[in-house]
Amino acid sequence: MAHLFNRNVLLGVTGGIAAYKSAELIRQLQEQGANVRVIMTQGAMEFITPLTLQALSGNPVHTQLLDAEAEQGMGHIELARWADLLLIAPATADVLARLVAGRADDLLTTAALATAAPLLVAPAMNQQMWLDPATTDNIATLSRRGVHLVGPASGEQACGDIGPGRMEQPAVIAAAAASLFQSGLLAGKRVVITAGPTREALDPVRYISNHSSGKMGYALARAAAEAGAHTTVVSGPVALTVPDKVRHLPVESANEMLDQSLALLKECDIFIACAAVADYRPATMEQQKIKKGPEQVTLQLVRNPDIVTAVAESENRPFTVGFAAETNEVLSYARDKMQRKGLDMIVANDVSDPSIGFNSEHNAATVLWSGGEQALPRASKDSIARHIIELIAKIQR
Ligand code: C5P
Repeated sequence: MAHLFNRNVLLGVTGGIAAYKSAELIRQLQEQGANVRVIMTQGAMEFITPLTLQALSGNPVHTQLLDAEAEQGMGHIELARWADLLLIAPATADVLARLVAGRADDLLTTAALATAAPLLVAPAMNQQMWLDPATTDNIATLSRRGVHLVGPASGEQACGDIGPGRMEQPAVIAAAAASLFQSGLLAGKRVVITAGPTREALDPVRYISNHSSGKMGYALARAAAEAGAHTTVVSGPVALTVPDKVRHLPVESANEMLDQSLALLKECDIFIACAAVADYRPATMEQQKIKKGPEQVTLQLVRNPDIVTAVAESENRPFTVGFAAETNEVLSYARDKMQRKGLDMIVANDVSDPSIGFNSEHNAATVLWSGGEQALPRASKDSIARHIIELIAKIQR
C-alpha cells in the first residue's frame, strides 16, 4: 500500500557496512509512493557509490555542505525544507553522537538541525558499540527529543559478533517511515468528499462541463483515509486512480451528486464539498441527438441545486466544509460564502494565479472558520490536503 504517497523522504546514509542496504531501502520507499533524495556522508561513500544511489533515487546525491554548485541547486536549507521526513539509515554510533551534540559539521547533520520534519534513525553498528553506555545515553537523549527509532535487529554481524546492532531490514524501515504518517487524527470518523466536475447532458452525446481535474478532491480523500477516516468520494468523471481505502461512488450530473450526497448523510460526520459543480444545466435533455440546423441556437439553462448548502441545511448536519475559488478580494468573498452557505469552514484560493488551482499539481489556500484562519502557502495538492485534514480534525472536535 502506498502509505508514503508523494511524501518527500530525505535519506541520510552514513558510513557502515549496512550502507549497501540503502539501495534496497530506496526501492522500498519508492514502492510506498515516496519521492527520495539522498545525502551521503564521507564515510558512506567508502561503502557504496553516490552513482548507485543516484540511479536508484532518480535524483543527484548530495554529499557536500560547502559546495557552491550544490547550494545553487538544492542547498542544505532547501533540502531541509523539502523533506517531509529525514530518515538516517544506516545511522552509525558517530552520527547518533553528532546529532545529540547538535553538530553541523557536514551536510547531513546540518540538514538534521535545519529541518522541521520528523527524524527517524535506523542504527547499525557492532553489538559492543550499541551496548556501550555512551550509545545508550545518546539514544535516550534522541528519544526524549522526539527522534523516532527503528531497530536495530539482533543476530550475526558483519564483524562476526552475534548480538544487537544490525540495521533493520529495508522493508521494516520503510514500514516504520510510513507508520509515522498514519496519524489516526480522524480515526473512526466518516468523511464524504465531492470531487471533480459534473456533466450536464444536452442530449445522449453532448454535455456541458468544466475543466476540474478532481486532483484536490482526491488528495483530500487520500489524506482523510491516511488519517484513519472511513472515506467516500462522490466523484464526477475524472481520469484519476482512486486512492487506497477510499470508497468511490461515480456520478455524472449535479442532481446525481446531490442525491448521492444526501443519501450518505446518515453515515457522515464530515462533508467536504470540493467538486466544481456546474451552476446551470440544460432546461431539457433531448432524448435523441440534436440535429445540426439553424445558424444560431439558444440554449435554455436552469440553476442546479447547491449541494453543500443542502447538506449544511440538513437535519443532524455533518461538519461541513466548502471551497471558494475567487479572483479578487478572496478572503472577504470566501467568508461571505461561508456564512451564506452555512458552512463550518471554507478553503479559499486565488484562481487568478495560473500556477495553482484547476489542473495544476499545486495549490495555495487560506482556510477560514468562525474562530480563525490559517494560510497554507503554495505546495503540492497532497500537502495542502493533509493540512486541511489536520485543521478539520482540530476544529471539528
Ligand atoms: O458558489 P460557488 O460555486 O462559488 O461555491 C463553491 C462551493 O460550493 C464548493 O465547495 C462547491 O463544491 C460547492 N457547490 C456545491 N453545489 C453547487 C455549487 C457549488 O456543492 N451547485
